[in-house]
This record gives sequence, structure tokens and C-alpha cells, in this order.
Amino acid sequence: MTLLEIDNLGVTFDTADGDVHAVNGLSLKINEGESLAIVGESGSGKSQSAFAVMGLLAKNGRATGSVKLDGSEILGLPERKLNRIRAEQIAMIFQDPMTSLNPYLKIGAQMSEVLTLHKGISRKQAEAESVQMLDAVRIPDAAGRLNMYPHEFSGGMRQRIMIAISLLCRPRLLIADEPTTALDVTVQAQIMTLLAEIQKEFGTAMILITHDLGIVADACECTIVLYGGRVMEQGPTDDLFAKPTHPYTLGLLKAVPRLDIDQDELETIPGEPPDMSRLPAGCPFCPRCGFSKPRCSTTQPELRLEGQLRRACHADVAEVAA
Ligand SMILES: Nc1ncnc2c1ncn2[C@@H]1O[C@H](COP(=O)(O)OP(=O)(O)OP(=O)(O)O)[C@@H](O)[C@H]1O
Ligand SMILES: [Mg+2]
Repeated sequence: MTLLEIDNLGVTFDTADGDVHAVNGLSLKINEGESLAIVGESGSGKSQSAFAVMGLLAKNGRATGSVKLDGSEILGLPERKLNRIRAEQIAMIFQDPMTSLNPYLKIGAQMSEVLTLHKGISRKQAEAESVQMLDAVRIPDAAGRLNMYPHEFSGGMRQRIMIAISLLCRPRLLIADEPTTALDVTVQAQIMTLLAEIQKEFGTAMILITHDLGIVADACECTIVLYGGRVMEQGPTDDLFAKPTHPYTLGLLKAVPRLDIDQDELETIPGEPPDMSRLPAGCPFCPRCGFSKPRCSTTQPELRLEGQLRRACHADVAEVAA
């Protein structure tokens, strides 16, 4: 059953320089227990898409389009109703665990606060549930840790705590925004394994936001590639990895170390991500694209289904895949 359906989501910020269109036309569906990745370089609109879903855009931002949870519109709901949805239905792990945790509050207090607020249970019960959840994210001696402050934990441990906090109210959907970015490679792998185990154990659906295509291959059934706030390509992860049809996806994949194919050397995409307040009239990737044609700079390609994947590109699939 469809849990969350996003249709033509747009996010626009009102700035002194004019409107910044941070997200344009994002559509996706996610079923109970499924996982989906949103990938793209810094500034491509990944976090703002998630904030729009959660009703957490900055004051100068507005969202358009539709976000339905169980078939009911949640975009633009009043704060009181959104508060119930947040944490209880959809929870988010924010990009930086240190700024999301209060440095002056012990971990136990931060966890209990969530539970007493949303579930109205006693302190003692909240403590027991917190210990259970710290256990679930494999934090040793969970009971003893409740009395510790965030700075007493390593980066990897803090990320586990963030995951535990996000799961306290047993949300049906977890949005994990760059959950492994600040961590070293070994800890990254541990956190990804943990997220997969948690998904199985609790049946939680997950939207994984990352700039690192390397971590989505095993983690997510579907992948959406964003660039300049637009969807470049989206579809089943296996197809997207095996036969990318968009030059940008191709570029991202060439930059990822992979074990499943022969790779002579890693390549980076030349050029810089676009200035979001001065996006070109056509395809935002055009200035960096090796396949660009004259009309790419003037006409925005539409997102069209070709084979298993949706792609927004004027170049022929055969040309890109060659
Ligand atoms: N309050 C704001 N006012 C104006 N522009 C904003 C505001 N918040 C975000 N933006 C712009 O929206 C665009 C998308 O930002 P977003 O945070 O979604 O990027 P991201 O893909 O998550 O990048 P990263 O990988 O660095 O986290 C960026 O160009 C950013 O500058
Ligand atoms: Mg972000």
C-alpha cells in the first residue's frame, strides 16, 4: 500500500536576489517498508524536499504541489496536526547529529522528552523504552548511557542515538538526511547495516538522502537523482546503476568506487553546481554536460519514462549508454 505520495513538489525561497527555486517538480511514491534514495550534489534540493514534506521549511520558503500520507494531503496542514505526524508517522534524522542533539541535556532526558511529549507516558516508562531503543541501535550498556551528554559519545555513536530518537515513536517512514556523511568509511558501513536491520525489524519505510551514490546500491529499491532542484533520472536502483540513461547519473557513477564492475579510474564531473538563483532556461546540467545540444540550453527537457527509468534529457538514450 502507498504510504507517501509526492506529486510535483516545488520549493521556492523568497530572497533579496529574487525567487530561488530549490525544488522543481519532484514526484515519488513509497510503500510501507520500502526504501528510496534521493541523491545529488550539494545544493541540489535534497534536504529542502524533505523539509517540505515535514513542514519544516524556513520562513522565506513555500512549498507547492502535493504530499499525501495514506492518501490524505499533508502539505500546508496546521502546525498542531503536523506535530502529530512528525515523529509518530514520519521521523527525520537531520544532517548534522551534533546540532540536532542538545549539548547541555543528558541523552536520557532528550529521549524521554520525545516520549512524554508524543505518547504521554510516565518518566519511568519512557526511560525503559529509551534503553530498549538504544539497545536496538546496538549501543552497549544502554542503561548506563542515559546519564551521559552528547559530547561523551563518538560521532558514530551520536548518529546511532539520533536514529534511536527518531524511532522512539515507531514512525512508519524515516527520512535519513546524509546519515553517514560525517563518519569514516567503516562506521558509515556499520550505520548503513544498522539502518537496514532496523527497517526489517520495525517494518519502517525509508527515504535516504545522500550525495554518495556508493551507499545506495544495497540500501534502496528506487533512486531519484536530483540536480539543480530538478529530477534528472529516477527509477529502480538496479536499472539506474546498471544502465544509467542520464549524463549526470553517468558522471556520478563514474565518480564512485565500485566493486561490481571494471573501472579503470575514477572521474569527476568537471565544473561547478549551478547557482540556484540564476538557473539556465534549459537543463540545469547543460553547462557541465558532455552530451549537450543547442536546445539543451534553451529548453528544459521533460521527465519521461523510457524503459524502466524516467529521465529528463534531450540526448538519445543510446548515445548516453554507449
Ligand atoms: N532559507 C533559504 N533561502 C534561500 N535559499 C535557500 C534557503 N534554504 C536553502 N536554500 C537553497 O536551496 C537549495 C537547496 O538546498 P538543500 O539544502 O536542499 O541542498 P542539499 O541538496 O540538501 O545539499 P547538501 O548536500 O549540501 O546538504 C540551495 O541552493 C540552498 O542555497
Ligand atoms: Mg542537505
